[in-house]
Amino acid sequence: MASPIQRPAGPQTRTIADLYQSVRARTLEIVAPLEIEDYVIQTAEFMSPPRWHIGHTSWFFETVLQKYQPGYKTYSEDFLFFFNSYYEGFGPRIERPKRGTRSRPTVAETRKYRAHIDEQMARFIEQLSHRDDADEILRIIRLGLEHEMQHQELLVYDIKHLLCDQFDAPIKPAPRSVESVSGMVGIEGGLFELGYDAAKDGCEPQAGMPALRGARATFAWDNEKPAHKVWLEDFSIDRAPVSVGEYLEFMNAGGYKDFRWWHSAGWEKVNTEHWQAPLYWEKHDGEWMIRDFAGLHPASDKADEPVSHVSFLEASAYAKWAGKRLPTEAEWEKAATVSEPRADRGPRASNSRGVVAATGSSDIAGSGESKCKFPWGDVTPDESRANLFENGLWSVAPIGAFPAGQTSNGCHQMIGDVWEWTTSDYVPYPGFKSEFDEYNDKWFVSQKVLRGGSFATPQIHIRSTYRNFFYPHERWMIGGFRCAK
Ligand SMILES: [Fe+2]
Repeated sequence: MASPIQRPAGPQTRTIADLYQSVRARTLEIVAPLEIEDYVIQTAEFMSPPRWHIGHTSWFFETVLQKYQPGYKTYSEDFLFFFNSYYEGFGPRIERPKRGTRSRPTVAETRKYRAHIDEQMARFIEQLSHRDDADEILRIIRLGLEHEMQHQELLVYDIKHLLCDQFDAPIKPAPRSVESVSGMVGIEGGLFELGYDAAKDGCEPQAGMPALRGARATFAWDNEKPAHKVWLEDFSIDRAPVSVGEYLEFMNAGGYKDFRWWHSAGWEKVNTEHWQAPLYWEKHDGEWMIRDFAGLHPASDKADEPVSHVSFLEASAYAKWAGKRLPTEAEWEKAATVSEPRADRGPRASNSRGVVAATGSSDIAGSGESKCKFPWGDVTPDESRANLFENGLWSVAPIGAFPAGQTSNGCHQMIGDVWEWTTSDYVPYPGFKSEFDEYNDKWFVSQKVLRGGSFATPQIHIRSTYRNFFYPHERWMIGGFRCAK
């Protein structure tokens, strides 16, 4: 019998193998400082125990093997039940609030499962280039890796809720603010192309995956597509996220005690949940303190850092109190992507309200021609431009610490630090086509869009068109905001 021609693995499959290894390794790096007891505790209905995350992200790849690897033998029916998250299409599963109610599978068993899936996936990826459906499978594997990166960020939120400063995070020193950033920037309205357009994505391949060419060099979720035109009126947007110091002013002015600033749903939360401050704020001897991975700090010491762990309801109340509003996601995206050439920046003059006129944006409004992938241009994120996971701060950075990451008209820290709330409902863009059932499409109701990524978002995972979404009352994730007018 003639043997099939042995083709060497193509560059694309070799690179997805590298990406697979590095993403899977990072999940284990994140959980490395945990003690065994930490892995199984569920501190709230909204969080998941670390054991569940390391099992669930492996379960995702097992569903790929089940579908595409002929003769693949399911590892354990029990694991399928325990590690499925919410997918009706993949059968029954444990209810989310009960993920921390079982001691089995043990952490060791879960790690063994993870290692087994990794072994199987390595072999599977190696043989991919022999298959006619390699493109489809590579797309699913990439999606699985982006899914895992989402869970890496969730792990950071959940470990913070579980342990906060008891967690021995490998924290690197924070950069200092090198530029005072205040006021707003005025942006001209007009037609704007909202969303991700692969045809216009001229971004160079991501660092570390130089051979991942063509469409696979880049990635965007189905919910960012298709790019489509929207009309924007002229608007102004804050040059920086709202800071702890500014938010303290709102609190000290009785912001949490005055119904006038709150949506009805927000005022109800203030009263029923007794909200007086963002999550992780504690009052000691009459002074507001913030607890983070590094310890407990007076809020006043963090006055120049972006406020975080606020809900949409709190962000909206602050904005109303400040005589502003939250931006729509289209406004946010335009501010973060449409840039004049840096070389053309003249001195900026601000008016009495601190609004800086952005010149040069009108010629690009609507054409989409100068829409950049990131606030600073098309170069992929690095540690000098944005505070993302790789910076290793495990915290927000002071406003003005990343001048290299600002937009051409002077908006800082739009990528990294905190996800920023927008007023936009999380709904499909016109012409939306689901690329993976039950992933993004089943959540298109009752949630709000956040933009920009946080200090827990991996560099390769973020772009300006990325749409995150949470319910308006949620604040366990790293959510902050900037205002518009
Ligand atoms: Fe998931």
